[in-house]
Amino acid sequence: MSDNGKLLDVQHVTVEFHIGGLLGGTLLTAVNDISFSLDNDKPEILTLAGESGSGKTTLSRLLLRDLEPTRGKVLFEGRDLSTIRNRSEFKEFMKKVQPVFQNPFETFNPLRRVDAYLFDTAMNFGIAKTRRDAAEVVDAALRNVGLSLDEVRQRYPHELSGGQIQRVSVARALISKPKLILADEPVSMVDASLRMEIVNLFQKLRDEQKVSVIYITHDLATAYYISDRIGIMLRGYVVESGPVEDVLERPVHPYTQLLKESVPDPAPKERETWAKHIALGTTEVKEYGRIGCKFAGRCPHVMDVCRKADPPDVQVGNQTVKCYLYTEQGTKAAAGTPN
Ligand SMILES: Nc1ncnc2c1ncn2[C@@H]1O[C@H](COP(=O)(O)OP(=O)(O)OP(=O)(O)O)[C@@H](O)[C@H]1O
Ligand SMILES: [Mg+2]
Repeated sequence: MSDNGKLLDVQHVTVEFHIGGLLGGTLLTAVNDISFSLDNDKPEILTLAGESGSGKTTLSRLLLRDLEPTRGKVLFEGRDLSTIRNRSEFKEFMKKVQPVFQNPFETFNPLRRVDAYLFDTAMNFGIAKTRRDAAEVVDAALRNVGLSLDEVRQRYPHELSGGQIQRVSVARALISKPKLILADEPVSMVDASLRMEIVNLFQKLRDEQKVSVIYITHDLATAYYISDRIGIMLRGYVVESGPVEDVLERPVHPYTQLLKESVPDPAPKERETWAKHIALGTTEVKEYGRIGCKFAGRCPHVMDVCRKADPPDVQVGNQTVKCYLYTEQGTKAAAGTPN
């Protein structure tokens, strides 16, 4: 099967959840017609950012084949994930696509030594046949994240710092020599002062191990420093995407502009304030159910047309933007002509 040079090819994926009970429930489209791809020979860090409840985790579950799309498909190295049928095929897939989760203290059982997990991973994936081989594999993975087997041997999770344990979980993900790491909020539980240290690892892995990373976050600061590309998510849609410098320095979608404005000062020493989590409560479900642009209720530039149908994707400079402002209607409205 040809992979067309693509490591990952996400084609028009949509996920619908039934919410609100069996009778009279409603459909929530948590991921709405999203497409993007990663090249085989150009490892990169792609960030998916957006406020809480924008569909980031649902999208990452599709990529881990933890969830089947309602429509559309995900191809990894040219293979449609829905054709993975048995455990051994799934294991082969998981060797190449590895997750790193939000809370390392949940990933590791407090009563089990952390090195035991690493040894198990090496043996279960068939990377090592003997414990001696496994020790080598585990040590090499730990060295990639600035640790060593000697440092973590016989240690329990609580005997390691938050930063160290998250580095161990990145090392665990590296044991099978994956081509893609999916990191869902990997630093949100880590002390702010240690975040850059962990996310910098992703750049090192991209450059030295040729691993691509999909980095999911609320934190535009770390995203800005480590990503190549970024997609801004809003209620199931990617509303703006492109090279990270363009999107975050010159955002064109009013929603990205709002996210950026919620960051008072992007200077490095102030960057902690970039990590803004905007909780919206009931606004969330209301916005998901909205006809037309999901941002219409909060957008300072809203026009009549925005409430009628989904905005199209428009190319503005280096960015792809889902917004009427950059269509003919928007240009006319800006010039004072009624739309
Ligand atoms: N299994 C499910 N059943 C019903 N609704 C779901 C399910 N999983 C997620 N949702 C809903 O889909 C929407 C997107 O959720 P998702 O967890 O993907 O968002 P997120 O961007 O990861 O949010 P956060 O930043 O808080 O982690 C939310 O409104 C959520 O309540
Ligand atoms: Mg999430």
